[in-house]
Amino acid sequence: MNRRMFIQKGLAAGAAAVGSGIILQSCSRNPRQMTMGSDDSTPVKGLNHEGRQILYYASLAPSGHNSQPWGVRLESEAQWVIESDSDRWLPVVDPDNREVLLSLGAFLENLVTAAEVYGYRAHVSVIARTRFDRDVVRVCLESMGTGRQTFTQRRDLRQKKVRMGMRRTVKSHLLSRELKSPDLVCFEKQAGSLYYFPRSSPHTRIFQEQAVENFRIQSENDRAQEEMSLWLRLRESAIEKYRDGLTVAGMEISGLSGWYVKHVMSPMDAKGETFRQKGIEKTAAQAKEGGGWLVITSEGESVADLIEAGRRFQRVALVARELGIGIHPMTQTLEEMNGREKVRKHHHAGMNPQFMLRLGYVQDYPDPVTPRRPVGWFVRSS
Ligand SMILES: Cc1cc2nc3c(=O)[nH]c(=O)nc-3n(C[C@H](O)[C@H](O)[C@H](O)COP(=O)(O)O)c2cc1C
Repeated sequence: MNRRMFIQKGLAAGAAAVGSGIILQSCSRNPRQMTMGSDDSTPVKGLNHEGRQILYYASLAPSGHNSQPWGVRLESEAQWVIESDSDRWLPVVDPDNREVLLSLGAFLENLVTAAEVYGYRAHVSVIARTRFDRDVVRVCLESMGTGRQTFTQRRDLRQKKVRMGMRRTVKSHLLSRELKSPDLVCFEKQAGSLYYFPRSSPHTRIFQEQAVENFRIQSENDRAQEEMSLWLRLRESAIEKYRDGLTVAGMEISGLSGWYVKHVMSPMDAKGETFRQKGIEKTAAQAKEGGGWLVITSEGESVADLIEAGRRFQRVALVARELGIGIHPMTQTLEEMNGREKVRKHHHAGMNPQFMLRLGYVQDYPDPVTPRRPVGWFVRSS
């Protein structure tokens, strides 16, 4: 990859766009609560109201297959350990736990942001030595108080809360218009240097081809399909029971197909030829859409590097909605050896791509629809 886009000019314009506090659709509505019921309010020993709110917002983070691979152990009211839940790993498509740690990074970013909203500074240290350790990050909360906030500070904190509540993955109807420079500047302001490949760039064609090719390779892998089928939550009853995984709405299967998948199919059918073929066709159609691709890299491949890459991804994702930009991670290229080798061939050594994100402007930004486990389900006391 040699077309690194350094976005230097327009910094001021970008800052103005962020500073003007682009109006969000709604300030109080959280459709996830509307569709999934509010967070289970059963008290959790050792967790006060604010702690619970912080972890609720943390849990709105994205994760591969919506597996939500996090747990939180309370060492005290103000000291927590973020755990990696091995029951929620994806050993077939993510054997090195790369995506698990990226997802935990996104969770951590929300946690730190929500802590600020509730008047705490979160001090964070990565404690895992390997990608398979249970204890990954220790978080210590320091109370900052909320007494002396200005109107602007209060508004900014409210906006951060809305961003976490309204963020979602968007896979369909991405417009082909290329991203405007101030919007890219805004992303860079959140996440440091990024690689944007506009729709017209030759790299985009390679990314499109690879997204489809590696999706196809994975679809033909029975073990990968089996693993995916374990995370399918097709019926309302399964969603209510597990509050995680891939739902029909989350996969953006709508209309008659959506009705059929929801009411007639079972997760076991995901291993059948029709489901696989439809998936490939849908991916091919999606890959063609959008205004380009964003690649998020990491310095190295350590646990801390992956957590940091997950945090940077989430910072981009959190501002995307107010810019009207939908983001769709298409990960199969990085999961499959075939895809990784092709990508490696096209960029210089030492660059570690961690996210390949198809993105584009969206006319009508959809509300979030994917379920989350209630806080009490993933928190435990020491
Ligand atoms: C590390 C990571 C990898 C992901 N890979 C894919 C992917 O390959 N294809 C896809 O459609 N979504 C992918 N996603 C998006 C998740 O499926 C999505 O975050 C999850 O279902 C929750 O939905 P939400 O983001 O709308 O809250 C990925 C997310 C993360 C954090």
